[in-house]
Amino acid sequence: MKITQSARLKGHNTMGIDAVADCLVEWNSPEELRCILDDLERPLLAIGQGSNLVFMDDFHGTVLVSAIRDIEVIGQDSGSVLVKVGSGYVWDDFVTYSVLNGWWGVENLAAIPGQVGASAVQNIGAYGQESSDCIETVLAVSLEDGSMREFSKEECRYAYRQSIFKNELKGRYAISHVIFRLGLKPAPKLSYGNLAQKVVALGGPTLKNISEAVRDIRAEKLPDPAVLGNAGSFFMNPVIPLSQYRDLLKTFPDMPSYPAADGGMIKVPAGWLIEHAGWKGRSMGPAAVYERQALVLVNKGGATGADILALANAITDSVKEKYGILLNPEANLI
Ligand code: EPU
Repeated sequence: MKITQSARLKGHNTMGIDAVADCLVEWNSPEELRCILDDLERPLLAIGQGSNLVFMDDFHGTVLVSAIRDIEVIGQDSGSVLVKVGSGYVWDDFVTYSVLNGWWGVENLAAIPGQVGASAVQNIGAYGQESSDCIETVLAVSLEDGSMREFSKEECRYAYRQSIFKNELKGRYAISHVIFRLGLKPAPKLSYGNLAQKVVALGGPTLKNISEAVRDIRAEKLPDPAVLGNAGSFFMNPVIPLSQYRDLLKTFPDMPSYPAADGGMIKVPAGWLIEHAGWKGRSMGPAAVYERQALVLVNKGGATGADILALANAITDSVKEKYGILLNPEANLI
């Protein structure tokens, strides 16, 4: 276990915000965390690589970073394998490991920044797959009394970028392991955008080709956080009533849409709304809207959480005024 007082958080959030935490604890096992829990300054904040959060200020409390990086096959039947993965395992390394082993289910989620624990909180998703599609169980430590709890997938209440850990149980558990059920038989999911076309160009729907195609598509339009600070999609794609969408089409006939889980609703790409409200590539001080994907806000250097928030608020107001649609952040503002 590593404990750092007055810890700089710049290397612990992909937006690159230079905030300071009173204390930062890197924990290696649930037992270790349980032993020191009572002595830690509150509030507690469990993070992964900080790829989906923006520090609005210095954090007066303790940041918990999982250093649990084991990976183990714990079961197998004729069609699937059960894999237990430590919450600190880098997500993309898990995708690569699965692809190399011939396990299906996470290949479309290649190159998403962050760690396995966060994938179970955010229900990360891309190109027609979500992490929750393959999650079987989540193991977590209670931050109140250090007890272990096992959450079934149903108990996690997964929905589009949502889980119980972001809502009812926010801040109450630190995830130690996630158990995934991955398929042993080919099950390519290629219906999103131009993925199928890219996969064909690479030679057909193998795990390797699909994950490579996803990497290529992402690299074309998403900034690498190591080069330009960002937190991925800053906003969620809004889900609006079908009747509202039909009205909007009268003024904006090109507005794209996706089906939503609820049949009476429809999902609209926030990136399109933001771009067509004139924000793509625009800056407000050191915070900017990424020039190749308007859904991503970037830190051009030295931005504070307040700079990012000011830009996000200006975009939200402008989108609300133009389309009557309220954008909600996907990134967690701390
Ligand atoms: N669009 C624009 N302008 C833009 C961005 C997008 O017009 O600046 C339009 C595109 O032309 C397309 C539509 O919006 O018609 C959707 O764009 P895209 O396929 O790039 O996907 P997205 O809706 O912007 C979502 C996820 C991404 C994920 C992609 C691919 C959310 C909030 N974002 O983005 O996830 O990679 O789909 O599945 O759901 C993330 O969450 O961090 C993330 C990157």
